[in-house]
Amino acid sequence: EKAGFDHFMLKEIYEQPKAYRDTMGSRIDAAGGQVVLNEVKLTPQQIWDIHNIHIVACGTAYHAGLVGKAVIEQLARIPVEVDVASEYRYRDPIITANTLVIVVSQSGETADTLAALREARRSGARVIAITNVVGSSVSREADDVIVTWAGPEIAVASTKAYTSQLIAFYLLGLHFAQTLGLQDETMIRSTIAALLKLPEQVEQILAQAEQIKEYAEHIASHNDLFFIGRGSDYAVAQEGSLKLKEISYIHSEAYAAGELKHGTLALIEEGIPVIALATQEHLLEKTVSNIKEVKARGAQVFAIAFEGNPDIGKAVDLVFEIPRTLSLLAPALSVIPLQLLAYYASLARGNDVDKPRNLAKSVTVE
Ligand code: M6R
Repeated sequence: EKAGFDHFMLKEIYEQPKAYRDTMGSRIDAAGGQVVLNEVKLTPQQIWDIHNIHIVACGTAYHAGLVGKAVIEQLARIPVEVDVASEYRYRDPIITANTLVIVVSQSGETADTLAALREARRSGARVIAITNVVGSSVSREADDVIVTWAGPEIAVASTKAYTSQLIAFYLLGLHFAQTLGLQDETMIRSTIAALLKLPEQVEQILAQAEQIKEYAEHIASHNDLFFIGRGSDYAVAQEGSLKLKEISYIHSEAYAAGELKHGTLALIEEGIPVIALATQEHLLEKTVSNIKEVKARGAQVFAIAFEGNPDIGKAVDLVFEIPRTLSLLAPALSVIPLQLLAYYASLARGNDVDKPRNLAKSVTVE
């Protein structure tokens, strides 16, 4: 049932090109240059009337929400807040009839996410669920459901569910943008074209897994490391850090690169690994200067960057190159090497990759 792979997690990492294709599926009308998201039944007027959006989820799904915020704000110019469900449900959030709540849950059964959904509906908000399980509690109770067609995810560490959630946010962001007429047709068309290229680009990254394996074996002997990035790179850094902690048990922290000098820089010492996400072109210069800050204090920097970026190459110890895409879509590529990194680091440490200690796949109790 692992289809020749040693672990479910590795199988699921390699299933991502298919998960991307299936989640985009008939929702993209490439010839017409538009997204067709029939399952979202909000009328154009109702979309116009949305004042703000709350994205609510736990763990990895929360990290997908952080990318979702950037996507929706950039494409549809609607203000978005992202909350972890266990905080949202108890913080008395300000929800009006013009608030749209988007809950994200692979399983559709996470107790806190479900409670947040109920709270939102009680307060009169409309709820869209992004879930991987048709017929799950979350899917039954939401107003609209966007199913991620990632297929069953068995490994406790979420991989293909996360990236399919990103695809769902890209589709939703484009759907809102089209309806609101906020972006010109060329922009929508070029984003769609870039989306359609992602599965093949993921395949190109997977073909270089050996490089990541080598680096993972190197970090496996370390006890602390840092992930840094700006903008969507910061969101991906947080996901990379969680994945590594969850299955390799190596302590790591993700930092917004510009925050380092407000405290964390004190922890940088000789030889500490720092993984720098550097895909956001408009922020690159700033990220490079943060990389120089940690290098100057002895850090060993491993960067993930678009191919053909000499400035990054010069500034770091090692670069893993990913194929070029739009900055907005970069998370759907840059997270792949981080998933592989967590996998191979866990393997090198002799851990139970698919069933990390103390954790369950679905958290149905508070
Ligand atoms: O089923 P859900 O998406 O609601 O699960 C949420 C989290 O429990 C889950 O993403 C968790 O963080 C993963 N094990 C991370 O890999």
